[in-house]
Parts: sequence; structure tokens; C-alpha cells
Amino acid sequence: MIIAKEFAEQDKEQLLDMVNEINKYDADFEGLVVIRSIEDYNLFLKKLGEWKHQELINPNFSPQTTFGVFDDKKLVGGFVLRHTLKGTLINNGGNIGYLVRPSKRKMGYGKILLKLALEKARDIGLQKVLVTCRNDNIGSAKVIESNGGVYENDYYDINSGKTYRRYWIQCE
Ligand SMILES: CC(C)(COP(=O)(O)OP(=O)(O)OC[C@H]1O[C@@H](n2cnc3c(N)ncnc32)[C@H](O)[C@@H]1OP(=O)(O)O)[C@@H](O)C(=O)NCCC(=O)NCCS
Repeated sequence: MIIAKEFAEQDKEQLLDMVNEINKYDADFEGLVVIRSIEDYNLFLKKLGEWKHQELINPNFSPQTTFGVFDDKKLVGGFVLRHTLKGTLINNGGNIGYLVRPSKRKMGYGKILLKLALEKARDIGLQKVLVTCRNDNIGSAKVIESNGGVYENDYYDINSGKTYRRYWIQCE
């Protein structure tokens, strides 16, 4: 069974193992940047807990909830759900970022991850979400389009020099 759940104490070993795998093969990854540098796992969990609440974070940032996705209890990836589209998220970043660990890519998990993320978005009352991906990220574009993504436009990010495709998806 494939489920999405928030990271907890017992997931430490699996998450650190996934981070190692990612850093080895895909250090420049996007989608789930919150796991990029976990120095202290308990502190990481504490921060994830705080980031869910607007009153505990910078008022210019969106609250967000982070999920691990487990297939038969094995961690295959994760996603972050941003509750609002504050600041630059409307251009690039959107409501949902996701990542499948390198050893599990091209096996259909990306499509499942986004489907699970849409369910979580619906659970917090979002009717539609913005999902963006780099214009050269063919896998991610396919994941979005297969989940009903309706392409709106491209956005050129002057800071990174990268272009992102912007899609809207109805959650209901
Ligand atoms: C993008 C990503 C989530 C795709 O995950 P995945 O598990 O490989 O996706 P799926 O297996 O569901 O594949 C979806 C489709 O994309 C295709 N695909 C996946 N990776 C691809 C690649 N690198 N190049 C071309 N096509 C690719 C698959 O073949 C499949 O095609 P199909 O619909 O014709 O069968 C994964 O590569 C990843 O985590 N990348 C790093 C983080 C990232 O880019 N996240 C998204 C940020 S917007």
C-alpha cells in the first residue's frame, strides 16, 4: 500500500538514507528542498511542525506541510504542500513540490505522489493548486499533465536564469 504521511521519529534512518542517495546522484534537486541539509533530525522535525502554522513563521511565507511517501513502509519520495501562494510562489514554486528518490524513478511513483498531494490539498480546503516545473524537466511535466494540469504560461526567473512551466490543477 502506498501512503503519504508526515515524517516522524521512526523515519529518521530511511529519510537520511534517501537524502544520501539524492546527494550522490542528483545534488542539484528541486521539489523537496527542505530535506537538503538535515543536521539534527529532531530539530528538523520541530521545524517541520512549526512551518505548518502561519503564526510561527515569517508573515511573508506560506505555511507548508511536508509528507513522506511510503510504499509498503519503504520511503520512495515525498512532497511539500504550501497552503497559500504567498510572495514569489505564484510565479514559480506553486503549492506543491515533490521528489522521487533516484532509485525509484520512472516506475510511476511521480504520478502517484502528485495524486496523493492533490488529496492532501483538498483535505485542507484548496480547490485548485498551482504546480510549476522547470521547462526542461520532462518527467515532472508529464507527472503534472497526467494529473490534470492545465498549462497557463512560462515564467522566466531572472535570478536563476531558469524558465518554469506553470500549471493549474483542480483538486475536486
Ligand atoms: C520529476 C520526478 C518527480 C518524476 O518522477 P518519476 O517517478 O520518475 O515519474 P513517473 O515514473 O510517474 O513518470 C512520469 C512520466 O515521465 C516520464 N519520465 C520520468 N522521468 C523522465 C526523464 N528524466 N526524462 C523523460 N521522461 C521522464 C516517465 O517515463 C513517464 O512517462 P509516461 O507518462 O509516458 O509513462 C523525478 O524525476 C524527481 O523526483 N526529480 C527530481 C525532483 C524534481 O524534479 N521534482 C519536481 C520539481 S517540479
